[in-house]
Amino acid sequence: MATPRTVAIDGPAGAGKSTIGALVAERLGYTFLDTGAMYRAVALAALRRGIDPDDGPRLTELARQLRIAIGPPTVRDGRAYTVLLDGADVTWDIRSPEVDRIVSQAARVPFVRDVMVEQQRAIADRGRIVMVGRDIGTVVLPNAERKVFLTASAAERARRREEELAARGEKRTRQDLLAEILRRDELDSKRTVAPLRAADDAIVVETDGLSVREALDRVLQVIERRPIPS
Ligand code: CDP
Repeated sequence: MATPRTVAIDGPAGAGKSTIGALVAERLGYTFLDTGAMYRAVALAALRRGIDPDDGPRLTELARQLRIAIGPPTVRDGRAYTVLLDGADVTWDIRSPEVDRIVSQAARVPFVRDVMVEQQRAIADRGRIVMVGRDIGTVVLPNAERKVFLTASAAERARRREEELAARGEKRTRQDLLAEILRRDELDSKRTVAPLRAADDAIVVETDGLSVREALDRVLQVIERRPIPS
């Protein structure tokens, strides 16, 4: 197979980007970067400092100061990677419902995005990478050799999120998760800077009714440019 250097995977909340992206990276032996974790780290830092998620100037200042590092797992507790915020392990803290609630507000601040995108491009410059997010194929790496837009219905995404949380011993109702997913979809797709959308040259992979294995196989088909069976 012709091996691409960069693989961009975008899609809405709960479409399986993190799970599938990590598996693709493992399969190819590439670095994996989940850019959502970076926006989540900014949101967590804002919460801890009492910064309003709509206060663009203070968030921009914060994003500039923070040291966010994402690397291989340092603890074997089911994590796909470790996230350090100013040196402290925040891998699970960035998954809290409080962060879920404000992350899309923080992520729509243009200068916060500039700071994150610069770091994301620097990481991509170091070598072969699978990068997942909302704007990777459109803004961060518009020249990525493979672009996948992973999606599923909102109901399916809420069901998956409920399962994922239950596996970690956390309970939230499906209804609550669906409402939050729809709210984040709306904020992410309607913002003026880098809205969530499939790049014109992305291949859309619908994952409703597919197992992780099946979705992974579809994505690998796109990456390896194998014909996709109808
Ligand atoms: O895991 P989940 O799909 O719920 O979300 P995530 O990928 O961790 O991203 C959290 C939030 O960060 C998204 O809802 C977006 O508001 C923002 N985000 C973004 O704006 N651009 C990215 N490249 C990645 C995430």
